[in-house]
Amino acid sequence: MMEYIGVVDSGVGGLDILKVLIKEFNHENFYYIGDNLNLPYGAKTKEQLEQYGIVLAQYLEAQGAKMIVIACNTLSLNAIEIMREHVSIPIYGIVRPTIKGMLNHKNIKHVLVLATQATVNSHRYVDFLNELDQDVIVYQQVAPKLVDYIEGNKIALIDDAIKEYVDIYQKKIDGIILGCTHYPIVRDHFIKLYPHLEFFDSRQQMKQLVKEKLNELNMKASINNKQVIKIHASKSISDLKSASEHFFNYDNVQLLEGGIFLEQ
Ligand code: DGL
Repeated sequence: MMEYIGVVDSGVGGLDILKVLIKEFNHENFYYIGDNLNLPYGAKTKEQLEQYGIVLAQYLEAQGAKMIVIACNTLSLNAIEIMREHVSIPIYGIVRPTIKGMLNHKNIKHVLVLATQATVNSHRYVDFLNELDQDVIVYQQVAPKLVDYIEGNKIALIDDAIKEYVDIYQKKIDGIILGCTHYPIVRDHFIKLYPHLEFFDSRQQMKQLVKEKLNELNMKASINNKQVIKIHASKSISDLKSASEHFFNYDNVQLLEGGIFLEQ
């Protein structure tokens, strides 16, 4: 059976992480699921997210995943423990690595976590941050329009939405954690609007984590393996593709849709 690194998100957000992983681990096969049937995850309850997480983890294991990377803050924070209980392959989340990466930046003492409602509700960003550095002052802000606009490919509306969420904090903070994998897709907009702030996301830390785990668990693919990439949308692959073609290259990618959840 072909072996993959499984990567999951609610939609296009995780493709920004997948892009980095594909390039770095160019002999590894990847199986990405964008759960656009259940999007947006940010508006879901913990119980709903746990149900999605179990189905996705079991599906990926059945497809031959040797490990799963949850490229979604909302799912990591609400469902990683229960997902781990339902499969025998390792599952990694992105929140702790992101926070550790940020804390290596010595001058960050006031930070805004921009995230989905379900992530903010979990309160885990604040808890992890304070556990690792008690002096950091953390603000949280929910930014639901950003996921809507990114999934709907309405990039022209992004700047106003970012301002609506961030302007009130900009004088109080040194940096922003882009605490939803959709937001770094429009990182250029953030940087242009707030050039004096630092921005943190998960891509570099995720790459590092996957590298360490492949080595530690002796799971590296053969250097003779010709990389296979599958991208599977739980509802509509054309929606996923059209919202991500501007930042993700679909050459040599196998596309699939449906058949993961009992949607009919
Ligand atoms: N991309 C996801 C995250 O990192 C969630 C977006 C959504 O579906 O609300 O939190």
